[in-house]
Amino acid sequence: MKKLLLLILLLVFSCSDSDSNQDCCSIDPENQPLTYQAQTSLKDLASFPVGNIVSANKIQINNQFISTLLNDFNSITAENDMKMRNMFIGPNEYDFSDGDVIVSFAKENGIRVFGHALIWHSSIPDWLQNFNGTDSEFEGLVENYIKSTVLHFSQEKMIINGQEVSVVSGWDVVNEAFTNQADNAIFRQRIGSDYVEKCFIWAREADSDVKLFYNDYGLETNSNKVNQVLNMIDYFRNNNIPIDGVGLQMHIDHINPLLQQIEDNLQLFINKDVLIHFSELDITVNRNSDISTLTFERAESQENRYRDIVNLYLNVPITNRFGITLWGMRDIDSWLLNHHNNPNEYPLLFNTNYETKISHRGFAEGLQ
Ligand code: XIL
Repeated sequence: MKKLLLLILLLVFSCSDSDSNQDCCSIDPENQPLTYQAQTSLKDLASFPVGNIVSANKIQINNQFISTLLNDFNSITAENDMKMRNMFIGPNEYDFSDGDVIVSFAKENGIRVFGHALIWHSSIPDWLQNFNGTDSEFEGLVENYIKSTVLHFSQEKMIINGQEVSVVSGWDVVNEAFTNQADNAIFRQRIGSDYVEKCFIWAREADSDVKLFYNDYGLETNSNKVNQVLNMIDYFRNNNIPIDGVGLQMHIDHINPLLQQIEDNLQLFINKDVLIHFSELDITVNRNSDISTLTFERAESQENRYRDIVNLYLNVPITNRFGITLWGMRDIDSWLLNHHNNPNEYPLLFNTNYETKISHRGFAEGLQ
């Protein structure tokens, strides 16, 4: 009896000890479960690739990250390692080493890499930003960069379903072009307003097979931007400029935008018969910073939202489903903690201990 009492006391203490830790026992203060035991992995449930982001560093040293990644995902995108700032280190000088690590890892594990992103106003190397040659020299540098990068990453092949394919299956050629920042960035300023189409043409010249994407945020709500992208697709098609797909980043909230609005916008892209990638999915639950630990009520709302969004993706015809990529593994890994300056945001599928949150169950159920 005494022993039993001691055991109970020990249990109570070991839990209350780390009460401040949101992950203690994975329950919220009202004893509701925030995590669950996943039975089947997401990639096995899905009819399309399910992705997450990586860095060369993490896949070289973090075993827990690797096993979680390989269990649930079969597509990887470099969070930063394959952006211009990281690869284009000087005039006609490249550092592909981190991307190469990612490609070898993918090849070893038989999963695909998605290239992100060749041109983005937020990832310009300082030397290029300050380049003081002529505009035509500037354009030549960017053309060489796109061609060299796409060509380099077209070389590693693997066999999937009996077919030889490139490990890097696609690229975000241009990211977020329809913004004020992009209007003011050096690409438009120095190459001209047709720089986007030029980038797609250069990418295609370097690799005739790789899928070429335009990627942006707000495409689930911003009708102005949606129209610009739709018009761009029409213009490209009418002028034989290559484009295969559109990436909707899907940095969304558990409440906004309304599902109906996302569905309506998605339909406009489906109507264009392009590949569709939900390319950077995460779902915030604390935009107003009114909670300091994840509550069951928010976790459940997020679970429902993940289910709805994944289910919505099934509206995309099978042959146009490029996949859904999550932008981060654990809540604490998310870029949003910095971006929204809010340490108490919980946008993803895994908690600090790599346990599957109930949002993961929502994702899994959405696939079925
Ligand atoms: C973010 C990364 O997650 C951060 O680590 C980095 O500091 C900034 O970029 N849209 C995009 C991604 O297309 O490349 C961004 O990734 C998130 C917003």
